[in-house]
Amino acid sequence: MASSAQPHVTPDRLMQLAWGYAPPMMIKAAVQHGLFDQLDQGPKSAQELADGAGVPLRGVRAVSNALVSIDLLAKDSEGRYSLTPESATFLVRGKPAFLGRMITHTTVQILPRWMRLAETVEHGKPVGGVNHQEGGVEFFQQFVEDLFPMSYPAARALAAELKVAAAESPVSVLDLAAGSGVWSIALAQASPNVAVTAVDWPGVLEVTQRMTARFGVSDRYTFVADDLGLADFGSGHQVATLGHILHSEGEARSRELLKKTFTALASGGTIAIQEFLVDQQRAKNTMGLIFAVNMLVATDDGDTFSFEEIAGWLKETGFVDVRELDSPGPSPLILATKP
Ligand SMILES: C[S@@+](CC[C@H](N)C(=O)[O-])C[C@H]1O[C@@H](n2cnc3c(N)ncnc32)[C@H](O)[C@@H]1O
Repeated sequence: MASSAQPHVTPDRLMQLAWGYAPPMMIKAAVQHGLFDQLDQGPKSAQELADGAGVPLRGVRAVSNALVSIDLLAKDSEGRYSLTPESATFLVRGKPAFLGRMITHTTVQILPRWMRLAETVEHGKPVGGVNHQEGGVEFFQQFVEDLFPMSYPAARALAAELKVAAAESPVSVLDLAAGSGVWSIALAQASPNVAVTAVDWPGVLEVTQRMTARFGVSDRYTFVADDLGLADFGSGHQVATLGHILHSEGEARSRELLKKTFTALASGGTIAIQEFLVDQQRAKNTMGLIFAVNMLVATDDGDTFSFEEIAGWLKETGFVDVRELDSPGPSPLILATKP
């Protein structure tokens, strides 16, 4: 007989986890066939949705019902579907907070890599990492723009913290691994005194150029198209931003990158780092720990790090006043000053 101290376990949670891929795939299918977009016009039956999408009823009905069960759609007593506050805000194409492209990225670009997780664990390395220029450019070109809404609020918080709007003299900003340019665009918007050096791989920098033009700040940009390990960062910058880059570079290259950034900053300059931080024991922060597995399947040496680890590298490099800035992103920003 089981001891009374033994916890009662059931298979329920594992059965739910076993189907964990279903919600993102259903969302992706509904986004792709414009179901959320159609419902933004008002409630519709499954047949009306299927007709609007030009696809058979069967799939629309199955997917829509399952979406109702996870509160991404609602259904009335006549079987008409409508949006919920969450799907109305995040899953309708053209809305400012649209996350559909991000979900397409995680399902179409990332999921195939996760399908080979067991194989990757066997070798300790993925097949074809995205942290190489070859392969990486195509991968990042497709989605850095989709990351813009995730980081823009935090980038604005950084501009406020650094009091960029009040600057009376030129502020030189080094945007490393610029991607969409989200970090430097927010700083450039805060003051006409901001001039930016943006570094990224050549193909991805085309996206940076397009985005800076869209925000009307491109005339204050210098674009440096090269690998971070080889690029000339210039010198005398007041601010350097490293948004979501340390995790794909991994520890050794990140530490080199921090040293190179230190050299490129002016005395008194600030480095700002955004990452998916994990707790020191690597036991609690589910998103950060899952992202470490994502780095395993996607990069040669990538990982996620704790504040304490990154703070240690910064101090070793010579930075002082290493601190966290609460910001509306996945983790607080890490700031530090070059003495
Ligand atoms: C996850 S995205 C982050 C983009 C942007 N900083 C942000 O926070 O949204 C990573 C960026 O780093 C660039 N990148 C990755 N490895 C690089 C390397 N070794 N040299 C230059 N750029 C690199 C990619 O092209 C991509 O634009």
